[in-house]
Amino acid sequence: MRRPQRGGSKLREQLSNHDKKGEAVEHRESIHGEWSSRWVFVLAAAGSAVGLGNIWKFPYIAGENGGGAFVLVYLLCIALVGIPIMMAEVLLGRRGRRSPINTLRFLTQEGHHHPAWEYLGWAGVVAGFLILSYYSVIAGWALSYLVWHITGTFQGIDAAGAQQFFADLTGSPERLLAWHTIFMVMTTLVVARGVRSGLEQAVRVMMPALFVLLLVLVGYAATTGHFGEGLAFLFTPDFHRLSGNSVLIALGHAFFTLSLGMGAIMVYGSYMPHGASISRSTLMIAGADTLVALLAGMAIFPVVFANGLEPGAGPGLLFQTLPLAFGQMPWGSLFGALFFLLVTFAAWTSAISLVEPTVAWLVENHGFTRAWAALATGLAAWVLGLATIFSFNIGADWTLFAHCQIEAGVEVCSGGKTAFDLLDYLTSNIMLPLGGLVIALFAGWVMQRRLVQEELRLYGKGFEVWYFVLRYLSPVAMIVVFLGAIGIL
Ligand code: TRP
Repeated sequence: MRRPQRGGSKLREQLSNHDKKGEAVEHRESIHGEWSSRWVFVLAAAGSAVGLGNIWKFPYIAGENGGGAFVLVYLLCIALVGIPIMMAEVLLGRRGRRSPINTLRFLTQEGHHHPAWEYLGWAGVVAGFLILSYYSVIAGWALSYLVWHITGTFQGIDAAGAQQFFADLTGSPERLLAWHTIFMVMTTLVVARGVRSGLEQAVRVMMPALFVLLLVLVGYAATTGHFGEGLAFLFTPDFHRLSGNSVLIALGHAFFTLSLGMGAIMVYGSYMPHGASISRSTLMIAGADTLVALLAGMAIFPVVFANGLEPGAGPGLLFQTLPLAFGQMPWGSLFGALFFLLVTFAAWTSAISLVEPTVAWLVENHGFTRAWAALATGLAAWVLGLATIFSFNIGADWTLFAHCQIEAGVEVCSGGKTAFDLLDYLTSNIMLPLGGLVIALFAGWVMQRRLVQEELRLYGKGFEVWYFVLRYLSPVAMIVVFLGAIGIL
């Protein structure tokens, strides 16, 4: 079912007239190419969205923030803020047909808006680079667990053993550095080759496989005897356990998990074929992303409770629980290796989208080849990754914002944020939601409604509802959450 393309053809006519006068032609197709179909866009964007955020981060932050109520707020944030803003981000990209920095420049010049809106593109480049630096370190953990499962290390392991393995890995800067380096090289190589060759094919196979394997894991979790307890933890809201800061973390995670707020989805949108429906594609991407996160939670928490582990164990949660499941189930080493292979893959398809906005910009404005642009970005993020590596070992007490007390004449500090904590907090909870807010304001209030509607090709009630949510509901919700988190509300 296709909508008639009301108005769209007129726009195209105007633009092509524009072109004849010698203006750059590339805003109808990006100079970097285009996805071969709308399905490839959906797959690529889902590949970007589904990643460590779903499998590693969602379960541990849900655990740290008390479970059910947090999950509910997170789902609301996806529906009321994430999906509308994702549509806006894709439409900006597809209209601009350039890297986010140049897309924003083009759109502000086209509409004679204030040039300050361009800073959004720059902030996105910085945020992507900061996220990539720690993302690669965590993806390195998954690589290491992949190898451990291949060699059968976890056969019959108990909870204390699994914790020890994790502590040994994160306690060793050399090992973390080695895996971080391997992952960053993998990411750089794919981006250097261009998104279309190789990755499209891989994503097609890997994403469905990941899904099936998660179902197998949920099936195993159902045999632990603590499935009900796991589900109750995830889905029974207890609002007493929810602080203003937890709500901000849920909002930040909605942006993180959908890859919003820094231009990754915008740059993927700039490669999207013209006729494809943005609203339907977005719903599919967000739906797949949410499902994977919930399945990961349903696989992990029953194992947590069956083994008397702590749901609030923090970033090590996934890595301390699943080896127990794989260590006990038949064919566990095989399934375990396969699972961590798929996690690595999910992280890989996400990491490339963190690099792409910067690479596209370096190619457009500075005459870099893709390969050099990818190398330069990867190298810079690799160096910054050292800060995350040291956060888990020699730098574990290089912290800020600790609460210190004098106890029996000795100063005791707790709750300090390591470099990793700071990078994560700053990007997920501040930079991405702010980026999203600016995107909502730009598409909702600054750009001409007619242009927005033409790019979105959404008419009638559907458009009105989306436009209202984007203009009023999402920005107000975000501002309320920010104020709540800093204690003003
Ligand atoms: N969404 C990915 C995940 O959940 C991470 C990611 C990829 C991302 N690209 C992004 C996060 C852009 C924020 C912005 O693992």
